[in-house]
Amino acid sequence: MYLKSRLPREMNRKMNSFDLNSYILYKRKQIDGALEEILGHTSNPSRLINAMKHSLMAGGKRLRPILCITAAEAVEGKTDDVVRAACALEMIHTYSLIHDDLPAMDNDNLRRGQPTCHVAFDEATAILAGDALLTLAFEILSSMELTNKNHALKWLRVVNTIATAAGYKSLIEGQMRDMAAEDILLSLENLEEMHALKTGALIEASIITGAILGDGSLEQIEKLKIYARNIGLAFQVTDDILNVEGDPAVMGKDVGTDQTHKKSTYPSILGIEKSKEFARKLVNNALQSLDCFDNKSDPLRAIAHYIVERKR
Ligand code: IPE
Ligand code: IPE
Ligand code: MG
Ligand code: MG
Repeated sequence: MYLKSRLPREMNRKMNSFDLNSYILYKRKQIDGALEEILGHTSNPSRLINAMKHSLMAGGKRLRPILCITAAEAVEGKTDDVVRAACALEMIHTYSLIHDDLPAMDNDNLRRGQPTCHVAFDEATAILAGDALLTLAFEILSSMELTNKNHALKWLRVVNTIATAAGYKSLIEGQMRDMAAEDILLSLENLEEMHALKTGALIEASIITGAILGDGSLEQIEKLKIYARNIGLAFQVTDDILNVEGDPAVMGKDVGTDQTHKKSTYPSILGIEKSKEFARKLVNNALQSLDCFDNKSDPLRAIAHYIVERKR
């Protein structure tokens, strides 16, 4: 039942006085329920499944799956299938975090308020749990019951969108550049490009996936791409800011790590205040791109604000 996405009637009625907190809580519950359903309730789970669940169910913000469902709702399409794609996006994101935290990469000990996967289990298990979540995502995407040729083509487009964003020209290349840039001061242009690859691409893919599954028009998809690029960058700029001034107890991950690893970040190049100003400007750009949408895109508007105001 969790794999179906429909707002309950009370939520629809409430949309006039839009309450982002209840909206996010409701969506998170729906996504968490669907993820639980996919990973199953085996009475004696293997060490691998335990490691996958450790990271996946540790309580992330679920931003990418929420954006996916919210974009589908914004284009006013039928959104029944979208939770399946939303779950796949969260699995890919979680795999990227497990690998990002490994000693060979950022070497972090805390994630989502829990010991990182390689700390709770061991390095080999963390690598394999990440691999397993990445491949499970594509298993989930490709096991949709297809009703006709158009439906099949739509899902093929979704698989291609997500694979491209997670792949060697986007997220993985972004991570390569992030690693290569330790100890080097990047230009603002190179930093922006790196952020767009390592973080922006999957956020954009989440929104475009929702729009494709919701049968958005070409024009709507183009506008949503502009929205996505702006909030994607605003999200990473805010992540950089929180790495300087965030509270680890609230964030569930360590802070100050970018400076320790001598990473180029927006605060290290622009300073904190200019970085905040830049993030707000990106949010305004994102909001402008939604001008042609009606109030069904109010959740996207509210999420744009949330992205820079968040404390975790
Ligand atoms: C953290 O992503 C890594 C980045 C891409 C900046 P999130 O801040 O979305 O992490 P979770 O999913 O809430 O744990
Ligand atoms: C993580 O980026 C990005 C990916 C995993 C693709 P960061 O390394 O900057 O994020 P945190 O601070 O560990 O969450
Ligand atoms: Mg990293
Ligand atoms: Mg990291």
